[in-house]
Amino acid sequence: MANAPLWWQTGVIYQVYPRSFQDTNGDGVGDLRGITARLDYLVTLGVDAVWISPFYPSPMADFGYDVADYTDVDPLFGSLADFDELIAAAHQRGLKLILDFVPNHTSDQHPWFLESRSSRSNRKRDWYLWHNPAPPGDDWHPARERVPNNWMSHFGGSAWTWDEATEQFYLHSFLKQQPDLNWRNPDVRAAMYAAMRFWLDRGVDGFRMDVLWLLIKDADFRSNPRNPDWNPSWQDHASVVPKFTSDRPETHDIVREMRTMMDGYAGGRVLIGEIYLPLPELVRYYGPGTKTDEAVPQLSGAHLPFNFHLIQTHWEASAVAGIVQEYERLLPAGAWPNYVLGNHDQSRLATRVGAAQARVAAMLLLTLRGTPTLYYGDELGMTDVPIAPEQVQDPAEKNEPGKGRGRDPERSPMLWVDAPHAGFTPPESEPWLPMLDSYATLNAATQAKDSRSLFTLYRTLLHLRRQHDTLHAGEIADVTVEGTLLRYRRVALEDGHSTDFLVLLNFGDEPVTTYVPRGTVLLTTILDGAGATTESEQMVEGNEGILIALG
Ligand code: NOJ
Ligand code: CA
Repeated sequence: MANAPLWWQTGVIYQVYPRSFQDTNGDGVGDLRGITARLDYLVTLGVDAVWISPFYPSPMADFGYDVADYTDVDPLFGSLADFDELIAAAHQRGLKLILDFVPNHTSDQHPWFLESRSSRSNRKRDWYLWHNPAPPGDDWHPARERVPNNWMSHFGGSAWTWDEATEQFYLHSFLKQQPDLNWRNPDVRAAMYAAMRFWLDRGVDGFRMDVLWLLIKDADFRSNPRNPDWNPSWQDHASVVPKFTSDRPETHDIVREMRTMMDGYAGGRVLIGEIYLPLPELVRYYGPGTKTDEAVPQLSGAHLPFNFHLIQTHWEASAVAGIVQEYERLLPAGAWPNYVLGNHDQSRLATRVGAAQARVAAMLLLTLRGTPTLYYGDELGMTDVPIAPEQVQDPAEKNEPGKGRGRDPERSPMLWVDAPHAGFTPPESEPWLPMLDSYATLNAATQAKDSRSLFTLYRTLLHLRRQHDTLHAGEIADVTVEGTLLRYRRVALEDGHSTDFLVLLNFGDEPVTTYVPRGTVLLTTILDGAGATTESEQMVEGNEGILIALG
């Protein structure tokens, strides 16, 4: 790398779902003061940046992803003063703060939408996507049933809702309480950039942009092609291929505008995009290079288009190797990789891969080349919490019960101590979602005292990653698979000080024998202690990961 790496390249991001991190006023819901109170935990763990899911004023139809005011804090989470305290406390500790920004849609209670729906001639009518009903067909249907096209909501049913008063439909890619903004309207863009500036001026270090690849829809509102493989046990949304509603070419212009605006701020503010796309399309969100004459071009898109492929793949050495190799091959010059293993929309890592492989996954995430993003509680091995039908909170599950979309299980409150409600909320309070039964063993305080715990493994890995330039900034090489074993090297930059590393990760239950050069074992996922290796065949136990400093 020509230039010194930036904080979001060498650092590790930790996602906090604020409802579930720490409650300080006994209402059973986490809040901003709770995050402030737990910053020292994040410092001890050894992460560098905190991304907080939305805390803006919201009717909470989608738990904050339905924003009613982009420049304030919902009273449930605290106040702007609490936010200012949080950011000051984070910066004081050397932690960066990343906000979740929701550009695709607002709440239906946002004043912009209230105005927009008030009449067809309102000056904000065009801020949202309004459409006349489809023409009547042979079999007569009332206008309110004649949706303009077959676009589907990600949370079930049509993406169109009829507005009785103004006799048009409006588009919502998610809940009907989340109307989509019209990003072709320059006033919308200006208003959203102003909202981003509000937070940048307050010192935030970047944004995670919600559904960045969905911002623009086809200007002609063409229906999506049908998905021939779909069957009714799948979510409604999967019945069509989202050709005209996602990853439209014009989206890249918006990403570039956001980036240009953020580049005007000092301190390296980071633009992260939530983007679920195949790798070839995903890497295009880094944007084209602006200075092609330079050895390392300056790219003009998102700094980190989130790479969710490790979440979506089969947990097998060959599949993971395939992703890493394809990703490394496709990354444009000057693009910085990143990997995500969990978030508030996906089944928990420890549930997906099991407790033994969760340790291997930790070593994978923290030794690959690129910025890792951790989801709160994954460092403790928290699993999905069982949710009884009467406990369901997530609207996605309420709308399409049993279709596997429900996200409550991965949003269970953080486990801090071995006490009723695990220190998340007082024993006499009612947490907004059930706590995990395993709190007595999985809680952070207990694990911190245990040298063999998953928490200690994460902390050690994060420490090693920070200590060794090669692990946070070096290249990756020789990604190979031997049966259930994945191996790769991290290669020192040419500065003369750093070391090369070898990573061995056994994705299977059975031992694998592999050739190991001379070096020093820095860490294994199943054993305490370290030691020298001689050049020899060596056994990697089932579910073991080994990190070796070479030479
Ligand atoms: C993606 C977010 O991660 C998810 O939680 C939310 O429901 C949708 N976007 C809609 O904002
Ligand atoms: Ca609270």
